[in-house]
Amino acid sequence: MTAEPAGMRGNLVNYGDEEFALFLRKAFIKGAGYTDDALDRTVVGVVDTGSGFNPCHGNMPQLVEAVKRGVMLAGGFPVEFPTISLHESFTYPTSMFLRNLMSMDTEEMIRALPVDAVVLIGGCDKTVPAQLMGAASAGKPAIQLVTGSMLTGSHRGRTVGACTDCRAFWGRYRAEEIDDEEIAEVNGRLVGSVGTCSVAGTASTMACVAEAAGIALPGSATPPAVTADRMRIAELTGRRAVELAAEGLTVDKILTQEAFENALRVLLALGGSTNGLVHLAAIAGRLGFSLDLDLFDQMSRETPVLVNLKPAGSHYMEDLHRAGGVPQLLNQLRDLLNLDALTVTGRTLGEELDNAPAAFPQDVIRTRQDPIYPAGGIAVLRGNLAPGGAIIKQAAANPDLLEHTGRAVVFENAADLAARIDSEDLDVAADDILVLKNIGPIGAPGMPEAGYIPIPRKLARQGVKDMVRISDGRMSGTAAGTIVLHVSPEAAAGGTLQHVRDGDLIRLSVADRVLRLEVPDAELTRRAEQHSARPAPRPGRGYRKLYVDEVTQAEEGCDFRFLQAETPRGTVPRAAG
Ligand code: FES
Repeated sequence: MTAEPAGMRGNLVNYGDEEFALFLRKAFIKGAGYTDDALDRTVVGVVDTGSGFNPCHGNMPQLVEAVKRGVMLAGGFPVEFPTISLHESFTYPTSMFLRNLMSMDTEEMIRALPVDAVVLIGGCDKTVPAQLMGAASAGKPAIQLVTGSMLTGSHRGRTVGACTDCRAFWGRYRAEEIDDEEIAEVNGRLVGSVGTCSVAGTASTMACVAEAAGIALPGSATPPAVTADRMRIAELTGRRAVELAAEGLTVDKILTQEAFENALRVLLALGGSTNGLVHLAAIAGRLGFSLDLDLFDQMSRETPVLVNLKPAGSHYMEDLHRAGGVPQLLNQLRDLLNLDALTVTGRTLGEELDNAPAAFPQDVIRTRQDPIYPAGGIAVLRGNLAPGGAIIKQAAANPDLLEHTGRAVVFENAADLAARIDSEDLDVAADDILVLKNIGPIGAPGMPEAGYIPIPRKLARQGVKDMVRISDGRMSGTAAGTIVLHVSPEAAAGGTLQHVRDGDLIRLSVADRVLRLEVPDAELTRRAEQHSARPAPRPGRGYRKLYVDEVTQAEEGCDFRFLQAETPRGTVPRAAG
């Protein structure tokens, strides 16, 4: 077997004369001042996702420098290159809409450039999933480095952090518990530095599951963005990337079914973001594995939530780091993990855990005997309202609402919600169920995190803090409540959700894993026929058309169908047996 051309000989531009293509390439890059000695070395691409519109990646220049230092210490030649950067608050209509575009950018640049290995630097919610999706498809050695979490802030003597506390303060402001002056004051306190959100949101979740899956260095998920630990991890990541190239350790050798099971286990034990499930489904799909929601529910029933992080718990990411980070959590879960899974270090997960720092008493990572939540942190629901599945993060829900039948109060889309949710005329009571349609992958489009439907202002003023809420959208991992998400098929794809009307009864039973619309089948068929007579307009061109035509439902990760692996290779988790 002939080895793939490496270094500057890799991926030569096709002029029909390879030596001329190499001659030309070297001539251009020498214009940047490089010597032949540099250009003859292993080339490590360093994916730079810095952007003035992405404060979660605000430490990118320091990270790139540290990674490059590591590459050079190992004798390699580091070259950084940019890709799209996505920040949650600066990506209209939603970062999820552009995640697949970022994955395509990442994949195609890794394919196009003469890189023997890549260091993927990302952090904000959609960036790590996009990078891992792209790298998995590109098929070259790759290692993930996250930017790290932001520092917490302090408001009137209380520790605060984005974005659980952002939502909590905004909820209190809507309920008129705090005034204009205080909400303006806390706005400048919630984000203590650059870096990703400081709770168990999607960014923290993806950082931890990437480490658990073995595609990032042990101990690399939790150091905050502005710390010496973060820079040392960056240097070590660069160093390791050179070795990865020599070993030919491609992503598919690390992200196996065993690795995805470890990642799903950590998602659950972390009390992590429900978005993590969508992203893991998408990454797995690039390697031929499909997420089996029912097997995931079984896994959930035997996995305790051990990490005491907001929103389900009380601490922040910097506390998780001080408590020992992911290795400490993995040690608690040892008997539930695939310890033989190979990691990016070239050693197995079990070998890495044998070498992890010793445990010590602390209150952030609980023991199996003293969990935050005993099991079933995320539950999968089925029923006529969600034949393709729906999920609820019961660890962050109100236990009194987990078995509930209520009257639907329906909003047709996000605009309808915004127009009516605070109306004094809204016919709504605390034991009703709020239903929001058309915020799914196709409907919005881009499946925004609008599933955290606000409590109607007139109820909030009466002290109502939680209600059952149902949608085909997503929810930020930083949010909490009795919120059913990812209803599939979504309303815009003709799901039953489209046919829910005000006053219909809906039954939620988390114990039975049921989400049921109590309307006779014949009536639902009649409503579906009425609806299909009025098809919604579809976009005519551009990325929006590609997105709406190709996006899959939540259980498939909302990836584009044409980006998924061509050959199915099994499920994650695997069926017992
Ligand atoms: Fe970037 Fe929360 S907004 S991680």
